[in-house]
Amino acid sequence: MTDPTFLVTTPLPEPGMHMLRAAGKVVVPERQLTADELTTACSSGGHDIVVAQLTDVLDKATLATATVRGISNFAVGYDNVDITAATDRGILVCNTPGVLTAATADVTMLLILSTARRCVEADGYLRSGQFRGWQPELLLGSDVTGAALGLVGFGRIARATAERALGFGMTVHYTARHPVPHDDLGPLAGRVRFAELDEIVRTSDFLSLHVPLTADTHHLVNTDTLRAMKPTAYLINTARGPIVDERALVTALRDGEIAGAGLDVYEQEPEVAEGLAELPNTTLLPHLGSATRSVRATMARLCAANAIAMARGDMPEHAVNP
Ligand code: DGY
Repeated sequence: MTDPTFLVTTPLPEPGMHMLRAAGKVVVPERQLTADELTTACSSGGHDIVVAQLTDVLDKATLATATVRGISNFAVGYDNVDITAATDRGILVCNTPGVLTAATADVTMLLILSTARRCVEADGYLRSGQFRGWQPELLLGSDVTGAALGLVGFGRIARATAERALGFGMTVHYTARHPVPHDDLGPLAGRVRFAELDEIVRTSDFLSLHVPLTADTHHLVNTDTLRAMKPTAYLINTARGPIVDERALVTALRDGEIAGAGLDVYEQEPEVAEGLAELPNTTLLPHLGSATRSVRATMARLCAANAIAMARGDMPEHAVNP
């Protein structure tokens, strides 16, 4: 049997590259492939497995002629891959779940605290030399303790966020397709409450998004949602940008329909909607939810292990379309 060939669209952190090189031939393009180049690379017959980033669009058109056997995505989210198209062509798709839960929940809390306490504004105030000493009403923010956190989606990251938020004295309610049975809530049993989406939108002080990006969740937060939120509420997004209609968000923030937003993800990354970066009531991070050295190394290990298993014809640990 010949060694498999891995097309690695962007080098993985170690030990990912080391593992792949030990298992077969590794091809790394000199720059990010265009859509046409990716289509050609996937259908050339020269690569067995694609090791992809969330920035690689593996849509229906790209996969229509694909000959690769597997796609190992270096992310827990896999909205960059058309799973139906991949399944139709017998291509397995894998992701890296579980290992970035705590890091992403930490960033969710960071955005809650930063928006509530005007961290970005305050930092800019000091660095620009405006700080003249303590004042009773300088840069006053909102309370986090006692505030209501509404989680939209209740997967791993939402639950880890709930645990952290409870530690900060927040009340936590969540929405999901169905209420989670008490016995399946683990340490959150009796400490979080299920509510329908419209109630969560209307009553939350912090509305935090934790759903995958699908056709159903695209622009889940839109003009109507933002108008239904309290004018004192904050929107937090560490999930995927297109869940929010970003232009509607800019309008809502500008018109004071909501108090602020903490975002780690954007509709058209790396672009952000016009006007967003000028608004003082935002904290804007460049998609850093999982960005700790150890988490990225663990993701790389999982991603490489998934790719190697697929290359060997074994069932990988994290296939999303087995
Ligand atoms: C993911 O894994 O989906 C994050 O967005 C990046 O780590």
